[in-house]
Amino acid sequence: MTVHFIGAGPGAPDLLTLRGRDLIASCPVCLYAGSLVPEAILDHCPEGAQIINTAPMALDDIIGSIAVAHDAGKDVARLHSGDLSVWSAMGEQIRRLDALGIPYTVTPGVPSFAAAAASLGQELTLPGVGQSLILTRTPGRASSMPEGESLENFGKTGATLALHLSIGNLAQVVADLVPHYGAECPVAVVYRASWPDEKIIRTRLGVLEDGMDPSIARTALILVGPAIGASDFTESRLYAADYDRRYRPQTADSPWSEWQHGDD
Ligand SMILES: C[S@@+](CC[C@H](N)C(=O)[O-])C[C@H]1O[C@@H](n2cnc3c(N)ncnc32)[C@H](O)[C@@H]1O
Repeated sequence: MTVHFIGAGPGAPDLLTLRGRDLIASCPVCLYAGSLVPEAILDHCPEGAQIINTAPMALDDIIGSIAVAHDAGKDVARLHSGDLSVWSAMGEQIRRLDALGIPYTVTPGVPSFAAAAASLGQELTLPGVGQSLILTRTPGRASSMPEGESLENFGKTGATLALHLSIGNLAQVVADLVPHYGAECPVAVVYRASWPDEKIIRTRLGVLEDGMDPSIARTALILVGPAIGASDFTESRLYAADYDRRYRPQTADSPWSEWQHGDD
């Protein structure tokens, strides 16, 4: 018996990996984080599967349900929104599973920051404008932030910020970031990226609160940085016509020519 942790993607049911889909279809038990995982993904469960929404459950009860399936020799599909590597609560579950000797696998999913960037039609790293992306959040009721992981500190980098779990903390976001990015810095708020009711707001840091749609109270990403919406950036050298590179040697004596025509 194995627990398969599966990243269920940002919302659109077809933004699920084929591996995730096939694992869901193979498991007689499915536990899903019902606050964000779209119910349409549960259509992949086999007929008669036991399907449990873990949104109202405590960790002890979730692990208890997995242990019951384990004792019955039944594989479990454990679905979390987006990808499992960020804010999925997978870490605390696998620690418990390790202690109980219950095996597991991990299948990645499309993270919400990638879905938001896709909805914006935007690359988040642009040559000469921004080459780093910081995935972070502001403190919430359930989670404080480790010392040093503050918006003031991240703001000093000038990198593109993808702020999760922070739509309720706009005043703090503005106060902490304006000194570093300036009031005119572009911001995009993407609510429920890839869901049918997705909304996109493009605004500026200084007026972020004024322009906010009051119906956007959760499940939104705030993307901040000069790269957001920028069109004035240099082209990368990678595709420059005269750029000598492994896959496109420019001259016969290019160091790459030999490689290209060699055995490897
Ligand atoms: C508990 S975290 C889950 C993150 C998830 N594991 C991921 O890979 O994106 C929930 C937060 O992720 C962001 N989020 C998740 N799904 C989203 C979506 N479809 N559109 C915009 N933001 C989303 C929001 O900031 C939300 O408050």
